[in-house]
Amino acid sequence: MDLFRKKPLAAPLSDDAGKLSKTLGALDLTALGVGAIIGTGIFVMTGVAAAEHAGPALVLSFVLAGIACVLSALCYSEFASTLPVSGSAYAYSYVAFGELLAWILGWDLVLEYGVAAAAVSSGWSGYFQGLLDGFGIHLPTALSGAYNADKGTFINLPAVIIILLISYLLTRGVKETARFNAIMVVVKLSVVLLFIFTGIFYVKPENWTPFLPFGFHGVVNGAATVFFAYIGFDALSTAAEEVKRPQRDLPIGIISSLAICTVLYISVSLVLTGIVPYQNLNVSDPVSFALRFVDQNMIAGLISVGAIAGMTTVLLVLLFGQTRLLFAISRDGLLPEGLAKVNSKTQTPVRSTWMVGGIIAVFSGFVPLDRLADLTSIGTLFAFLVVSLGVIVMRRTHPDLKRGFRVPWVPVIPLLSAAACGYLMYNLGRETWTGFFIWLILGIMIYWLYGYKNSKLYKK
Ligand code: ALA
Repeated sequence: MDLFRKKPLAAPLSDDAGKLSKTLGALDLTALGVGAIIGTGIFVMTGVAAAEHAGPALVLSFVLAGIACVLSALCYSEFASTLPVSGSAYAYSYVAFGELLAWILGWDLVLEYGVAAAAVSSGWSGYFQGLLDGFGIHLPTALSGAYNADKGTFINLPAVIIILLISYLLTRGVKETARFNAIMVVVKLSVVLLFIFTGIFYVKPENWTPFLPFGFHGVVNGAATVFFAYIGFDALSTAAEEVKRPQRDLPIGIISSLAICTVLYISVSLVLTGIVPYQNLNVSDPVSFALRFVDQNMIAGLISVGAIAGMTTVLLVLLFGQTRLLFAISRDGLLPEGLAKVNSKTQTPVRSTWMVGGIIAVFSGFVPLDRLADLTSIGTLFAFLVVSLGVIVMRRTHPDLKRGFRVPWVPVIPLLSAAACGYLMYNLGRETWTGFFIWLILGIMIYWLYGYKNSKLYKK
């Protein structure tokens, strides 16, 4: 049994199981990146992270998580500029580490995007219902949340509907999707800037003391929590085959979208903890709450609308990433090949889009997802860790390969990146680790029963 059979470099490019159309440029990618990154993390999770983990030192948590992401983004950029193929970390490890680890990573990312999309749709639904309430429209309780007999909720209908709508949009074609995304990204950036530049006038520096109420330990726990806010730039590399000049545009897209978001997050967290004493921030809409706290109700309402737009684009990129990932995995035979079929009219993988959308919609509708952000984070950190080490391996095994972008100071930067990700993983709770292991074991079983036998590499 050869669990480490590696994909030869040319294979992914010459495969013709499906062809995606090449329409995206560097600006589209940056917009897609910002679209994927700014969402539930900054609009919802900052509150808990400040109130329960970091206090005013939330900004340090963002800096810490940001450093881990920047290091990983460099490694992602090198891979994306070397192997411009669909499938992101999955495809990279297929070449660097061989099939077993590639499958494990692919399976891990299926979890990441799926769970993240379901979690974000719940957050979306919360903000959306808040907005409807503002207009005096109230959903029947049974339709307002995931199943909970005590609360009388049965299904989170808005969450289901938004997932299905986004799936529909994705089947329509990539260029249309990128255009919709660009409009929403402008809306979202505007409200984040609006928050910063309104909020800054209400900052009371005394709210920043004590700065470290939970010590450095709290800062690290906070970093593991808010890491979720940065997830998304990695999804960009799943679009590689739809990019016009991937070797140049992908690194630009990855690094610039991450840089923009890091600066915004640091500013938002400073302003947020400066306006509201951190103990009060444990609410579901901390960013709007902060402005209501200082009687800026109108602007708070606008921010809610922007947050809804923000989370919509996050959903779009997460679902986009997951369908492209399934496309790549099934094209290699590790999952049934029907998933790789590209519709000839829209040039998008219509079938896998609806399948993914359907499954996630069920989760969004019926499963309460409070803790799933952490599960998303652990999966993503694992992928970042493997990709970072993969850069070192590839430099050894394929030293002469043309690389559009090269990580500086190899192996120092990739090792630092892997260590930072490992450290954040270590700081996630026991329950999260249990869920992660169960998912991995399930994945290994599927590989054993299906993937190993049906792999294209095996059949050759
Ligand atoms: N980074 C994305 C968010 O904050 C997943 O919603």
